[in-house]
Amino acid sequence: MHATKGGGNEARFEESIDHLQNRVLTKKVREVPTTRRGASSSSNTTALGAGYVGLDIGGTGIKGGLVDVSSGELLGSGLQVPTPVPATPGSIINTIAEMIRHLESSPSAPPPSTPIGVALPAIVQRGLVRSAANIDPSWIGLDVERFMSERLDRPVKAINDADAAGLAEARYGAGRGNSGTVLVITLGTGIGSALIVGQELVPNLELGHLEIDGFKAESRASAVAREREDLSWPDYSERLQRYLAHLEFLVSPDLIIVGGGISARSEDFVPRLNLRTPVVPARLRNTAGTVGAAAQMFPAGTLTALL
Ligand code: BGC
Repeated sequence: MHATKGGGNEARFEESIDHLQNRVLTKKVREVPTTRRGASSSSNTTALGAGYVGLDIGGTGIKGGLVDVSSGELLGSGLQVPTPVPATPGSIINTIAEMIRHLESSPSAPPPSTPIGVALPAIVQRGLVRSAANIDPSWIGLDVERFMSERLDRPVKAINDADAAGLAEARYGAGRGNSGTVLVITLGTGIGSALIVGQELVPNLELGHLEIDGFKAESRASAVAREREDLSWPDYSERLQRYLAHLEFLVSPDLIIVGGGISARSEDFVPRLNLRTPVVPARLRNTAGTVGAAAQMFPAGTLTALL
């Protein structure tokens, strides 16, 4: 499996670590400066804002990086490895332990006792996993924060993957500076959703599972549904219009951000939408989950104080 090539943030998951199960992603790395804005240069940045480990566990790949939580940028290169099969807690913990070891060999790495943030394609309520999308069902019922903390020997904070991506978009991406109600919808294999109000997340909103016209929204309007049914952009936009118009009625957001890989093609569908709420594509692209996994450990106020 290969990381997506592309500009901006997409270029940042590009390092390979061959020893990770011999299945790797390759590519060149765009190095990001290791100092945060306004901070003086230091080779071992342990201050708030620098070098927190974020991991984004997906059905096919696991991404990870050291995140500067004041800027929302990755410090150095991110990692991406295939998700082990079966994607059980036991196999995933071994993979992420290896990724963390690799990330912590960087001079920007925080001390080993620093908490890490992990995003999962699951409902995560106060550390407990309550669902499992594209990962093994054995995650359900697991106290994932406790399990990972014990196995990794440091505090772990877990979050739903769409919540992580949404939080990152709201704070550092297309929603930056918006103090209102921001709704982030990620279109991928399924549909993820995140609601951010005044830059704080309202966790575990599962709006992809909303039933519309007798169908679960994510079975009709996800990026995968478009590919599966070979929908033209106008036809797909119609589906999205129906879905987003319903969400707009339910939530009355000030801004809707559309994320997921498909947001790179936003010009093919966003202009066809007709909503009273502004709809914009996500900006962080494939770093959003990793960045949000780390950023969730800091309430919005603590970050503002840093800027
Ligand atoms: C799951 C969500 C997840 C989303 C994106 C949905 O099927 O229910 O929890 O955030 O997929 O992975």
